[in-house]
Amino acid sequence: MILGIETSCDETAVALVTQDGEVLANVVASQAELHARYGGVVPEVASRRHLELAAPVLTEALEQGKATLDDVEAVAVTYGPGLIGALLVGLSAAKALAWSRRLPLHPVDHLHGHVSSLYLQPEPLEPPFLCLLASGGHTLLLDVRSHAGYDVVGTTLDDAAGEAFDKGARLLGLGYPGGAALDRAARNGDPGAYSFPVARVPGFDFSFSGLKTALLYAVRDLPADELERRRADLAASYQRAIVRALVERTRAAAAERASEQIAVVGGVAANSELRAALGEAALAPLDLCTDNGAMIASAARFTHGLPFPEYLALDAYATAA
Ligand code: KG4
Ligand code: ZN
Repeated sequence: MILGIETSCDETAVALVTQDGEVLANVVASQAELHARYGGVVPEVASRRHLELAAPVLTEALEQGKATLDDVEAVAVTYGPGLIGALLVGLSAAKALAWSRRLPLHPVDHLHGHVSSLYLQPEPLEPPFLCLLASGGHTLLLDVRSHAGYDVVGTTLDDAAGEAFDKGARLLGLGYPGGAALDRAARNGDPGAYSFPVARVPGFDFSFSGLKTALLYAVRDLPADELERRRADLAASYQRAIVRALVERTRAAAAERASEQIAVVGGVAANSELRAALGEAALAPLDLCTDNGAMIASAARFTHGLPFPEYLALDAYATAA
């Protein structure tokens, strides 16, 4: 079995996955509450928390999978992109585990990890497909032709979709990280109440910063009690604009590339309106949308591992090349 470790942002996550893609254990310790008071992830705080959580989360994953380290045949770890201090904690833990047991180490790209959440049991997806990857840090359209990689078709020119959700939630007083809270608030609102514009940039790229500003203006002019009354409508209208932009671009890219399958992964793939709007798409299971170790172990099934002890000098990277 493969041990997968993910610490690129504010989730400390460890999972055990078989070569066939069966998830034997998947433990995620979210630091969201720790960062909420700052309204965003504080990198230094995240790194320190990963240090505290790495060992207990590993122990819990082994317990959940009824396994010991003797059962682990390979270690997989996210080595980028992400917060560099946070990544280094996971990478160091992975190196120590792999080295002490003479195991191979698979360095996994976080984005390939998100895509690989689709390759897990019980319903593994087979390439080719057009993949929308929408998370707090990334919004990408990917042409996936093999399990091992993909071509980038489009990306965001400014904010990521999850970032747009989080910033919108903050403006509406829904806390941090607000994607899921905004999703819930929107259920009681009228998506037609406000007309928020979505930038139509050329090609298959996205832009969400103008939308955020439009919401800022709408909220700024409202007295506090009025904001309270209109919150659900604002949330529903704002969410509608993001989802529409994502769905339109994804379908257009799939048509242009003659892709017969569409898939959606990443934290924003948990959004209920997006899931309903792209009913024809393969959707990552809810518990595998946000960051987790299972998707990292899954990616390692399709990439080369570095044999012992070649990985000791391996470095993490903050941004995608
Ligand atoms: O994939 P992920 O865990 O982390 C990154 O790699 O960035 O994605 C986290 C993002 C956050 O921005 C969060 O607000 C968003 O996913 N998110 C949602 C929902 N659940 C999580 N956005 C919209 N609707 C949701 N239900
Ligand atoms: Zn992620």
